[in-house]
Amino acid sequence: MIELRLAPMAAVTNVPFRLVARECGAGRLTSEEIDARGFLEGSARTREFASFLPEEHPIALQLLGADPDVLAEAARRLEATGADAIDLNMGCPVAKIVAKGQGSALMRDPLGAAVVFRTMRKAIGVGFTIKIRGGWDDRTVNAVEIARIAEGEGVDAITVHPRTRSQQYNGTAPWDIIASVVDAVTIPVIGNGDVRSFADARAMVAATRCAAVMIGRGALGAPWVFRAAEVAREERARIIRRHAELIDAYLPPRTALLQLKKHLAWYAHGFPHAARLREELFRAPEPAAVLDVFWRAW
Ligand SMILES: Cc1cc2nc3c(=O)[nH]c(=O)nc-3n(C[C@H](O)[C@H](O)[C@H](O)COP(=O)(O)O)c2cc1C
Repeated sequence: MIELRLAPMAAVTNVPFRLVARECGAGRLTSEEIDARGFLEGSARTREFASFLPEEHPIALQLLGADPDVLAEAARRLEATGADAIDLNMGCPVAKIVAKGQGSALMRDPLGAAVVFRTMRKAIGVGFTIKIRGGWDDRTVNAVEIARIAEGEGVDAITVHPRTRSQQYNGTAPWDIIASVVDAVTIPVIGNGDVRSFADARAMVAATRCAAVMIGRGALGAPWVFRAAEVAREERARIIRRHAELIDAYLPPRTALLQLKKHLAWYAHGFPHAARLREELFRAPEPAAVLDVFWRAW
C-alpha cells in the first residue's frame, strides 16, 4: 500500500477539505502554511489556520518564517495544541514571502537553514519535517545538500517538490531530483509533484523509491484521487454533498460561501459549458443558490 498524503495548499486545505480527503483515504494531513510571527502575535486568521479536529490525526501543522527563534517558539506552541508533527515550509515561491527570506528563500542559505533546523528541533518533541523544492533556480539545485543538512540536524522526514523556485508551478516536476534525495538520506522522503492518479503515484514510487506520495492540485475537485479504485458517479456526488456540509459546519459564513464556490468550480471541471457555469457559481448570492446552480449542471 502506498501512503497518499494531501499537500498543504494555502486557502484550500482547511478543515472541511482535509476531512473529505481523509475520508477518501488520505494519509497524514498537513495544514496550510501558518505565518509563525502572525501566530505568536495572536492573529485570528493564523489561529484559524492552526485549528484542526480530533479525527484529523495524524496531522502536521506547517510553519512559514525565517527567524529561528520565532519559528521555534511558534513550533513549541503548535506542539502544545496536539499537532502530531511540525512542518517547515521551504518551498513557497511567492515574491513577497521570499523577499522576507521565508519559504523557498531558505534554500538559498544552507547555513542559515541549519540554524533554523537546530533551533526548531530543540524546541519540540513531536515529529519535525520539512518541505523543500529542488532549489532556487536551475543553477542552484541543492535539494540533496539541504536534505543531508536536515538529516544531520535531526529532521524526521522530508517532502520534496522538485521544481525550483524559478519554475514556480510550470513545466514538469523533475522526479529524478526526488530519487537523488532518496539516495542521499536514510530518513523518509515523500515525493510530490504532478501526481494526478493512483497510477501516477505508483509510477512515482517506482521511479524514486520515495516512502510516500503527496498530492496537491490533483486533489482539487477530485478528493477521490486518494482511493486506489475508480469512484462511481453516485459516490462522487455523495462526497461533494458531504464536502458542502462540512464547509457549512466548520467555516465562518463569508469564508464558507467563497470556499463552496471555489470547490464546486473545481468539481465542475470538465462539465459542458464549464466557463459559464463557473461564472454562475461565483455570481450566486448565497450557499443554497450556489448548490442549486451546481446540481442543475451535474
Ligand atoms: C493553491 C496552492 C497553494 C499552495 N500552498 C502551499 C502551502 O501553503 N505550503 C506548501 O508547502 N506548499 C503549498 N503549495 C504547493 C503544494 O503543496 C505542492 O507542493 C505543489 O502544488 C506541487 O504538487 P502537485 O503537482 O501535486 O500540485 C501550494 C500549491 C497550490 C497550487
